Amino acid sequence: MHFPSDGDLEIGEEGRTQEGLRFDQQLLDRFMAEGLRARGTALGFPVNLDFDHRSLAGFLGLHANNVGSPQDESQYHLNTKPLERAVVAFFADLAGAVPGTTFGYVSNGGTESNIFGVYLGRERYPDAVLYASTQAHYSVPKIARLLRMDYAQVGVLPDAAMNPDSLRARCREHPGRAAVVVATIGTTGQGAVDDLIGVRVALHQAGVDRYHLHADAAFGGPLAALGPRPRAWGFADGADSIAISGHKMIGSPVPSGIALARADLVADVREPGVAVGADDDTISGSRDALAPALLWRELRRLGRRGLADRVMHCVRTAEYAAERLRACGRNPSYVPDSNTVLFDAPCQELCDRWALLHDGGRAHLNTMPHVERKHIDALCRDLEANW
Ligand SMILES: Cc1ncc(COP(=O)(O)O)c(C=O)c1O
Repeated sequence: MHFPSDGDLEIGEEGRTQEGLRFDQQLLDRFMAEGLRARGTALGFPVNLDFDHRSLAGFLGLHANNVGSPQDESQYHLNTKPLERAVVAFFADLAGAVPGTTFGYVSNGGTESNIFGVYLGRERYPDAVLYASTQAHYSVPKIARLLRMDYAQVGVLPDAAMNPDSLRARCREHPGRAAVVVATIGTTGQGAVDDLIGVRVALHQAGVDRYHLHADAAFGGPLAALGPRPRAWGFADGADSIAISGHKMIGSPVPSGIALARADLVADVREPGVAVGADDDTISGSRDALAPALLWRELRRLGRRGLADRVMHCVRTAEYAAERLRACGRNPSYVPDSNTVLFDAPCQELCDRWALLHDGGRAHLNTMPHVERKHIDALCRDLEANW
């Protein structure tokens, strides 16, 4: 969508005339129509577009606010905390939590969930060095700066997962210091999964016995839990905190995430009663009440089985895409059981048409739930026609 120039969008001293309001509405209508049309060619971003929450438009006339702890009623009674708790309970179970041992809330995305997890680790071990692989999301080094933590980048294996030998070596450069390790469960670039068990063994071998393990499963949590080959990624595998995205595999018109952590660690940072009468144990004060309602509705519709079917659809579509791109001579590569396929990038015009990110001559295809075989076939026809 191309908006008119910034000057034409300026908010002036006077409010709009009736004619001006009509113009503005048409502008926004066009934006929405183009956004809906673009669904059919959105193959390069790890967000699901297969949802329709327009029947909940009534929420747009309310100010609901989940201020403070999701576990605690604030004095602002128009909130969706019961729905938020149901969403959190679903993901805590998916992440292998023993009932009653975890805390969680709906955040505004993967970055906030990562901040929450690393913050808990830093409060637990104030001297900790933050370790993450070179493939970790860009939010991780930023979080190190925000929390004023020393940051050590860890090398990766050929499949882009964290190299435990490199982690061991980096830890030995900081003798006596605790560690907060961000293990990425589904890297943004390639969908690679860091091995939580391997990370713990490496920490042990390096003599680090004070550590906090945060799983950044923003992208790959549902795949790790429900994919063809379940991966070690959750509480049962030693994670102390976990980030999961709401708008990636589930899908939502507004960004959202789920932050999960061991309840005992959250108890240590909780400020009782200060958030409009509720406990304060999240990053934000006022919190989105719409996203929990949307996530709850979609998860109720799907159930765990429906979400598993969706994950398998993504994995199978990635396999199909790799096959088709190979037949087109595009040299595809992908981490097995992921939904990210890299291939030799076409011209800029085709990358734009199919919303493909590209980096170092390789384009990224994400087979999210809205992507079907017919989209891959259409992409391949375009690739063949524009060699
Ligand atoms: C692995 C990973 N972590 C964190 C994030 C950040 O999520 P958000 O953009 O919702 O803040 C992303 C987003 O792409 C991601 O892929």
